[in-house]
Amino acid sequence: GGLAPAATVDLDRDQVLGVLEAVWRRGDATLEKALYGHAAAVTAKHCGGGVYYRGLVEFSNICQNDCSYCGIRNNQKDVYRYTMPEEEVVEVAKWALENGIRNVMLQSGELHTEKRLEYLEHVVRAIRKETVELDLARRAVAAGGEGSFATPRTNGTATANGTPNGSTGAATTNPEAEDELGVAVSLSVGELPYEHYERLFKAGARRYLIRIETSNPDLYAALHPPPLSWQHRVECLRALKRIGYMLGTGVMVGLPGQTLRDLAGDVVFFKEERADMIGMGPFITQDGTPATRSWTELYPQVDKNAHMKSMFELTTAMNALVRITLGNVNISATTAMQAIIPTGREIALERGANVVMPILTPTKYREDYQLYEGKPCITDTAVQCRRCLDMRLASVGKASAAGVWGDPASYLHQI
Ligand code: 5AD
Repeated sequence: GGLAPAATVDLDRDQVLGVLEAVWRRGDATLEKALYGHAAAVTAKHCGGGVYYRGLVEFSNICQNDCSYCGIRNNQKDVYRYTMPEEEVVEVAKWALENGIRNVMLQSGELHTEKRLEYLEHVVRAIRKETVELDLARRAVAAGGEGSFATPRTNGTATANGTPNGSTGAATTNPEAEDELGVAVSLSVGELPYEHYERLFKAGARRYLIRIETSNPDLYAALHPPPLSWQHRVECLRALKRIGYMLGTGVMVGLPGQTLRDLAGDVVFFKEERADMIGMGPFITQDGTPATRSWTELYPQVDKNAHMKSMFELTTAMNALVRITLGNVNISATTAMQAIIPTGREIALERGANVVMPILTPTKYREDYQLYEGKPCITDTAVQCRRCLDMRLASVGKASAAGVWGDPASYLHQI
């Protein structure tokens, strides 16, 4: 009691742990109601009812790492390896702009070659250039040939399919931001040398997602064979932040050997590293991976469905706790949540999340980007994913904040 409405609360690790334990035991309906109610209030205060779309383009599944949980790790058998042609990635980004999605997240396995770096530089430059041009052309048409020189800075241009147009209150254009022209480019391509991060920033990328996966260095070491190291991953997060990227990070919930205390540490870690965006999802088994073998050995008796439901609940509790402690950050309702419960992403949006990532990867590549079993939308097209998410948002009284970039205030205030 006594909390100001929608105030953030600086919970320490033990307090976070206390909440997670209660959620894990279940049965404390009062606490859960208060937790999710407060998370929703803090979300509404910072984000309104608007949800930001980030179009996910899984452009290559080639990976030099061997993370023990991942379905596209280097040593995973029977994965057909692909890299989308540059032009095809750019086309997807243009499609996104036409459909009111002003952010694309380019994701792939990790590869440190000069060739890959140049590929990414080309793609990022081309996406920025071509989508800015498209945007300017469209605005000129909208200005109606009256010789107007004013570039309208309204948010109302990107509603090709009739999506409510920023009507939720969240779609305000931040006056401190650069002109939000074209499609913003985010990258999720792993631990790269510092110079690669710099070159990609120069090419025009502005956000970077790299999950810490777990804030516990020992657990990290158990899941990531050398040369990967927890310390180096943290150095990458800090380097990205220093260069000026908006930093996204996150963890998996329910990794073999992970404890509630580890998860409580994750929340504190996000705060300490000043993350701008958080994405968390339950660990999901995938045949042929070492983590799935250890999971099965660790929990031989467990009812897998019931267990996954608990992990889902814990993940939403983590989202809520991050929202309550960090306040104005972007939190993603991740695809993995939908893999466990068909309406999982909607539930996450009611418990602190404010971002969803429609998968825009062309259908023919999707089955080869199977990070875990039961990944949804494998046979869908981008059009279907976009429409499906629009309906899912509507089902919980939300709408996409179409036409804006949606930078988290945590970032805007620092520049
Ligand atoms: N279950 C859930 N999430 C996974 N990821 C990779 N493999 C799995 C899995 N088996 C997540 C990792 C990675 C992100 C791209 O996908 O957290 O950072």
